[in-house]
Amino acid sequence: MKIRHTDVLVIGGGLAGLRCAVGARRRGLDVRILSLVPAKRSHSVAAQGGMQASLANAIKGAGDNEDVHFEDTVRGSDWGCDQLVARMFTHMAPKAVRELAAWGVPWNRVRKGDHEAVINGQRVTLTERDEAHGLITARDFGGTRKWRTCYTSDGTGHAMLYALGDRAVAESIPVDERVEAIALIHDGGRCQGAVVRDLITGELTAWMAEATVMATGGHGRIYGVSTNALINEGMGAALALETGVARLANMEAVQFHPTAIVPAGILVTEGCRGDGGLLRDVDGHRFMPDYEPEKAELASRDVVSRRMAEHIRRGKGVPGDATKPEHLWLDITGLGAAHIDKNLREVKDICQYFLGIDPAKDWIPVRPTQHYSMGGIRTNHRGESPWLRGLFACGEAACWDLHGFNRLGGNSVAETVVAGMLVGEYVADYVEQEGGRLSMSPGLAREALAREEARIGAILARPGHEDAQAIRRSMEDIMTRQVGLFR
Ligand code: FUM
Repeated sequence: MKIRHTDVLVIGGGLAGLRCAVGARRRGLDVRILSLVPAKRSHSVAAQGGMQASLANAIKGAGDNEDVHFEDTVRGSDWGCDQLVARMFTHMAPKAVRELAAWGVPWNRVRKGDHEAVINGQRVTLTERDEAHGLITARDFGGTRKWRTCYTSDGTGHAMLYALGDRAVAESIPVDERVEAIALIHDGGRCQGAVVRDLITGELTAWMAEATVMATGGHGRIYGVSTNALINEGMGAALALETGVARLANMEAVQFHPTAIVPAGILVTEGCRGDGGLLRDVDGHRFMPDYEPEKAELASRDVVSRRMAEHIRRGKGVPGDATKPEHLWLDITGLGAAHIDKNLREVKDICQYFLGIDPAKDWIPVRPTQHYSMGGIRTNHRGESPWLRGLFACGEAACWDLHGFNRLGGNSVAETVVAGMLVGEYVADYVEQEGGRLSMSPGLAREALAREEARIGAILARPGHEDAQAIRRSMEDIMTRQVGLFR
């Protein structure tokens, strides 16, 4: 039986896991990251539009500050968030952006002079403040009163993940790739690591740790169509739940993004609408101002998604066929080819590769699609499970109640790095205060390994003919039909 030890075991190599690992490592702890895929292919890489932070450099960001970001976040959450957590988050987000700049993220920056924008369907020329030239800029996103979403074209997650992946290497943090945690090791009161399966060899290892951090992302793939990567199956939440001690929270809060392409469900960023893109119906009519006169396409994401569904129900969708469902149009032709090439180039690639269209000339077929899990492993504001000591969670896998019933666009990648910064410190505090005093129990690890070996053996030896894929498809159908946009 293979038993290994580390101070901190981080399960998940995306933005939250990496940033948390860097924090704990910088406090002198042994940290190990486990990842289902090479860390730089984690789902964080797919984040497009940007991260919110109240830097107030952008032309329409003047006057922004942590209080305004805080108020937007609370309102955007449908008043469902934990305001202490929202305070911590909005306070730290600007620091996180600057830290990432120092680590190599090439944020888009303010240019001297005039700036073209499409606001409410009208192309306008705005004059940048010369003194802001060269500072990190921001674009508009839904449900915000200021332009606050810092971005690198529409590949923000990609740029952030590569910078943080490199930082983990620089801090000598080992990352085990292509491994899957399949059970937590615990004694009912304290978590002591995880049983881990090597996805190439099938070999099981018990990783014992003073602190275990779940940073496994969301569970979008319990739906048939989702913007999430195939790995986002909610394994972290499942493992926590299976302890029978740790709990999940807010699992009914599921976010649908207004603009995923049909039929594939791949995201095209809210940045399209932030930069001036419009939503049109079967008649080419721009319908959002009819429902939301003030914010139109840039109302909160949950509001836009529901309005789109409502409009389709009124018979205004573009009829579907056997290959694709009924949908609406996202029109970014007004932004012009130069803008799309510079600021929405992933959207351009996605449209070309998956739809065979040019978004500078053609409208994009879109409909609301599962995108984000507000719920997850219940933690307190330090990212720790209140029921299972030594178990922490951060990022989309966790529910520390930053987002309540709806997350604002751009608050998710921001949350990953901010939560990573904060939870990494709290994890280090925990290990310094409690570690060593709490003796690890190899017997517990041996029992957990034996139990998992027996469980896998029993599954393989089953004589029945039940089809796991059929069960899965049935779950996806139920989620899509009955746990959708409207409660
Ligand atoms: O539309 C987007 O770029 C998605 C952003 C987010 O979910 O925060």
